[in-house]
Amino acid sequence: MGSLEALRKEAIQSIRKAEDAAAVEATRVLYLGRKDGRLTAVLRGLKSLSLEEKRKVGPEANKLRQELEEEVEKRQREVADDGGEKDFDPTMPGVRVRYGSAHPLTIIQERIAEIFTAMNFSVVEGPEVETEHYNFDALNIPVNHPAREMWDTFWLRSNQKETLTQKGERLLMRTHTSPVQIRFMEKNKPPFQVIAPGRVFRYEATDASHEINFHQVEGLAVGREVSLANFKYVIEEFLNAFFGTKLQFRFRPSYFPFTEPSVEVDIKIKNSIRQLADKNQNEGKWLEVMGAGMVHPEVLKGVGIDPKEWQGFAFGMGVERLAMLKHGIPDIRMFYEGDLRFVRQF
Ligand code: FA5
Repeated sequence: MGSLEALRKEAIQSIRKAEDAAAVEATRVLYLGRKDGRLTAVLRGLKSLSLEEKRKVGPEANKLRQELEEEVEKRQREVADDGGEKDFDPTMPGVRVRYGSAHPLTIIQERIAEIFTAMNFSVVEGPEVETEHYNFDALNIPVNHPAREMWDTFWLRSNQKETLTQKGERLLMRTHTSPVQIRFMEKNKPPFQVIAPGRVFRYEATDASHEINFHQVEGLAVGREVSLANFKYVIEEFLNAFFGTKLQFRFRPSYFPFTEPSVEVDIKIKNSIRQLADKNQNEGKWLEVMGAGMVHPEVLKGVGIDPKEWQGFAFGMGVERLAMLKHGIPDIRMFYEGDLRFVRQF
């Protein structure tokens, strides 16, 4: 036991005296080295001791090994820090640090939320895996209704069987952010105005303006005297703030089962992204950025809000589409390619 203590003192002293990483390593090998480290030899020698001696010396020797290992680590950190300072030459030019940045879609989503919160909207969220009820039925789209075909759906299956909720409902990847309207209205009494940003999924062919996985920002404002004119005002304010210039846009009559009347908003594609206009098969010079309308009375009734007393407008905008128009991005697929030359521009 005595010689163990002597070994301890000697080892700690030489570890603390080591001046650089190589010297620390040399002392580690000297005492703890696997082949013929001095403490290792003691541990190995335990075999030849009597059982009683083993019981006494064994734990002590192991404790010492741990202590020395900690000392070595500590000293290694110390000499590493010192080394840096000693080598630092203040006359050398600085080294450029490359900063990472948020993905363009994150930046755009934050900007959208900023504009709407300034207009007194709150931000809420809902799940990406939805039930058939919230994604369709509660939005006035019953089974077998032809409007279901408007949204090609990814259904959830496991082992070839459909995945169901406890109540036996089918599950799907939400095709739009509109189910968040229902979830919010079930829990809150009007008046309110909220936006719900999030990822949505559609089982459809991709092209320059269509992805199977994209983002929407849903909007919902319900009050006693909310009208389509209020919607028009809010959206014009939003678009002007978002683009920072007055772009040409148009409101076009449309159809959604959960709004009546329904409209779609298109934005004129600038000459600088003619490429997009050329690839945009359906619309040519216009890009559709959102669907909207006055919340359908049936939808309000379904969540226990009296449509005679309350009205509201709702909208769902395509985040990628807005980003494309703002930054002149000719193809939606660029957002998801992970090409650093693209994402570093934002
Ligand atoms: C809807 O999803 C409705 N839920 C919108 C809505 C909300 C209407 C509230 C009324 C009230 P639509 O399928 O048209 O509608 O999609 C809305 C927007 O998402 C489109 O205007 C477009 O900007 C964008 N979008 C649609 N499909 C894609 C796609 N495959 N890739 C990228 N963006 C898309």
